[in-house]
Amino acid sequence: MIRVLRELPALRAQVRAWHAAGERVALVPTMGNLHAGHHALVALARTHAPRVVASIFVNPTQFGPHEDYARYPRTPEQDIAGLEAIGCDAVWLPTVETMYPDGPAQCVRMHVPGISDVLEGAHRPGHFDGVATVVARLFLQVQPDLAVFGRKDYQQLAVIRRLVRDLAFPLEVVDAPIVREPDGLAMSSRNQYLSPAERALAPAIHRTLQAMRAAAQAGQAPAQVEAQARAALEAAGLAPDYAVLRRPDLSEPAPGERGPQVALIAARLGRTRLIDNLEFEA
Ligand code: PAF
Repeated sequence: MIRVLRELPALRAQVRAWHAAGERVALVPTMGNLHAGHHALVALARTHAPRVVASIFVNPTQFGPHEDYARYPRTPEQDIAGLEAIGCDAVWLPTVETMYPDGPAQCVRMHVPGISDVLEGAHRPGHFDGVATVVARLFLQVQPDLAVFGRKDYQQLAVIRRLVRDLAFPLEVVDAPIVREPDGLAMSSRNQYLSPAERALAPAIHRTLQAMRAAAQAGQAPAQVEAQARAALEAAGLAPDYAVLRRPDLSEPAPGERGPQVALIAARLGRTRLIDNLEFEA
């Protein structure tokens, strides 16, 4: 039976008992509405630790005032059943009051400078402060030996790695590959906002990432690759926020530069905003 933990003392006692028995504990932080991508994170966590805790918390501090916090899908019963079926040991379900005792507006906040302010951070001001704030709290609440995050949220992963390094959190960050639908669309809880017509257009994001990779590998200059990508997304009926090539540290590659790069896209389809990325060797 999966342990459903809703109070901090119960969570702490459980993790202490596992540690006392010499068992490593992995954390998989989520906002719930779990799909196969989340289950893959749990499966990866299990290969690193005998005990896996998944957290489910729709974090208000990482949503902007006009974003989808209120309508973000909340399906805790279904999520718990799914986690139990795949052998997750425990689920941590904090309330907003547990996470933010004086309310989200009054909470102690984290800020990871620089990397939080570009791309997603530029389009969603304060988003990564909210992510870093809640992830730091989850680390302190659960006290895991490692935590697993998906590479779909490429910039989030970079922010969390910096948070862990700078604050010397005693844990390992493990990253997991992107899980895609058969037509290439990266799995996301937000995919369910798409109408059937929008859903049919959404794989253009992955196709455009693949075209960006091919163009960069063929030696095209980043500015040209990016302009073509924006045009391709617009022609497919999407409104791109950005379509860029970056080095792994998110700095801009020089024309003709070789080595590891990542193509990143954020694009809107109707009211839904989707992100995706593709890592490659140029
Ligand atoms: O990637 C997510 O689902 C969220 O940003 C996270 C890491 C659970 C923090 O709320």
